[in-house]
Amino acid sequence: MANISSERVELYKQLDEVIAKWKDEQGGLIPIMQSAQRTIGCLDEEVQTYIADALNIPVTKVYGVATFYSFFTLEAKGKYTINMCLGTACYVRGAQGVFDELCKELNVQPGRTTSDGLFTLDAMRCIGCCGLAPAMMINDDVYGKMTPEKVHDIIEKYRN
Ligand code: FES
Repeated sequence: MANISSERVELYKQLDEVIAKWKDEQGGLIPIMQSAQRTIGCLDEEVQTYIADALNIPVTKVYGVATFYSFFTLEAKGKYTINMCLGTACYVRGAQGVFDELCKELNVQPGRTTSDGLFTLDAMRCIGCCGLAPAMMINDDVYGKMTPEKVHDIIEKYRN
């Protein structure tokens, strides 16, 4: 059986109920995985192993499904999700430079979460603020006319 983190024990109990319901159903794996993601927040290695053990299937099968569908995420999101717009209007006004600076400032690759669990860095195609290009969002806050020079101070606000 998978080793599970102590803070997730209660969450796995909830997941057990869903597993019991879908275990013998054909196509039951996806609703189980969706429920796990809703309950636990992601399908990391521990969650994948837990589901595979419970269903007595190879973990590679769970991993394959988790990576096939874009609505599954393998990593818990940070407290703050940064969505940098790389759509055309933003791109031509230097969004890539801002995005590169965000990677550097946070020391994280695109799509990943910082090791302190504070930030997840993502890119989007348009966040609906083209007049403010280049634009980014941190959770629901919009930042327009971004430059690489502004990155540090904005990130610091969330760190504190
Ligand atoms: S292209 Fe960036 S906000 Fe629309």
